[in-house]
Amino acid sequence: MFTNKIAPSILAADYANFEKELKRIEETDAEYVHIDIMDGQFVPNITFGADVVASMRKHSKLVFDCHLMVVNPERYVEAFAQAGADIMTIHTESTPHIHGAIQKIKAAGMKAGVVINPGTPVSALEPLLSLVDQVLIMTVNPGFGGQAFIPECLDKVRVLKKLREKNHYNFDIEVDGGVDNKTISACQNAGANVFVAGSYLFKATDLVRRVESLRIALHD
Ligand code: DX5
Ligand code: ZN
Repeated sequence: MFTNKIAPSILAADYANFEKELKRIEETDAEYVHIDIMDGQFVPNITFGADVVASMRKHSKLVFDCHLMVVNPERYVEAFAQAGADIMTIHTESTPHIHGAIQKIKAAGMKAGVVINPGTPVSALEPLLSLVDQVLIMTVNPGFGGQAFIPECLDKVRVLKKLREKNHYNFDIEVDGGVDNKTISACQNAGANVFVAGSYLFKATDLVRRVESLRIALHD
């Protein structure tokens, strides 16, 4: 039921050529494209906004898994829906109105995701778990690619999986940060089924084989 999905993170790709990079991702058997939106406030780094996502949409049919690292993301729900985002995932730490923001994402016709930083406990998610389609557990502090995986974050994945079983919730569990062919199986064993990978995939020239190597590291 919670099938495995690989989500190459475009953060690690060549920003001067999204069309080409999206085609490269389409050639792999990855299900998602993970798109990191950063505003220079919630995290120090800046990427791009909904207009760029709308342009990307013309070049890919893959699921657009948008991870917003911005202050008050509820301001951008309509813009991302119109841009063609499939999943909009927002941080509990980024707004005092997280519940309303999740409702807004769903009302706009997108799948709603919620995400917590390494320093935030699972309890911050609990009021939202019956509403969301995806929960993202950060396995690095957000803002940059290429950081070292924080294994302690997997304890939260284990807790979430138990909560999901106990209450018959329906969300996918995603992990993001430092995921490669070595760390991915620990993520799966803890209970994750959506795996974001940036630098591990894009630092290689053969993206198809890199995605395959993640798939091989996963068991059924
Ligand atoms: C970090 C981003 C990630 C990033 C992961 O804030 O949310 O999606 O691209 O990059 P790697 O896989 O290199 O850790
Ligand atoms: Zn991300």
